Amino acid sequence: MIIYSRNRRLRTNESIRSLVRETVLTVNDFVMPIFVMEGQNQHEPIASMPGIYRRSIDLTIKECRELFDLGVKAVNLYVKVPENLKDNTGKEAWNDNGLMQTAIKAIKDAVPGMILMPDVALDPYSIYGHDGIITNGQVENDATNDALVKMAVSHAKAGADVVAPSDMMDGRVMAIREGLEDAGYHNVGILSYAAKYASSLYGPFRSALDSAPVDNNDIPKDKKTYQMDFANAREAINEVLKDVDEGADIIMIKPGLPYLDIVAKTREITDLPIAVYNVSGEYAMLKAAAQNGWIDNDKAIIESLTCIKRAGADMIFTYAAKEAAILLNN
Ligand code: PBG
Repeated sequence: MIIYSRNRRLRTNESIRSLVRETVLTVNDFVMPIFVMEGQNQHEPIASMPGIYRRSIDLTIKECRELFDLGVKAVNLYVKVPENLKDNTGKEAWNDNGLMQTAIKAIKDAVPGMILMPDVALDPYSIYGHDGIITNGQVENDATNDALVKMAVSHAKAGADVVAPSDMMDGRVMAIREGLEDAGYHNVGILSYAAKYASSLYGPFRSALDSAPVDNNDIPKDKKTYQMDFANAREAINEVLKDVDEGADIIMIKPGLPYLDIVAKTREITDLPIAVYNVSGEYAMLKAAAQNGWIDNDKAIIESLTCIKRAGADMIFTYAAKEAAILLNN
């Protein structure tokens, strides 16, 4: 038998492999999520996320400078809200002098080229740990949207480039777009978490912000009435098309690695940029295995991020952004 077609010919050495390589990961693909806390010269490690810290604003600025110098040009911002500022309305979220707003101004001032994407959702501000206002034991959609609009406009006023609603309320993209237009923020974009699943992989993130739904029989124990069922794929298409229609500039799929089928499907139905969130639990699993010596940390990072891009991502939110940037720069 003569084998005419030998696929291994193009795998003979690294030079030829690099000629036929379809996907090339670069530092331009990364968005780094950052946790900000109150205080001065403070940083606290997050146990379940090795290498990731909560930082006060001064140290956050230092970190943003380092990221920018490495070529990471966008950060996704979260704040750890002190308990005494939490309530059911989330009103601290649109305090123009709140921690998020102060952080946005300070980072913009220090690193003007850095694209700032603050998270828009009430959970870090909610005494119940939910992404919405609770009425009669339910997360109320429309009242929450009103709050999210105020929050997004307050972020825009502080200097945000792109607001990132991660809450999964219906109709919030249009509401936020209208709010931003009315307030004159025509160039502030919306990165919509269009298909965000109710996932077990957000645990480390919730411990970083102390934002998990509280254990209380009067409120939902999980986020399944707004985040999507992980068994569904067609529903994601529906969610994406709606957010495109409502005026989203960038569409997010979240989580990342176990959801790459959704990313590939989304790539086929929209030409808007797609963001994929390689979430805290994915990072924690990789780090735990690497720390045990069971997988190679650097190789696993580059492989997983490249695969996310291969599936169709234009940008990747990842806690490994800084490490990956250092690896790619070397
Ligand atoms: C909350 C929010 C979550 C994440 C980003 N924004 C958690 C949640 O929905 O409970 C998760 C990010 C991660 O796990 O890395 N609106």
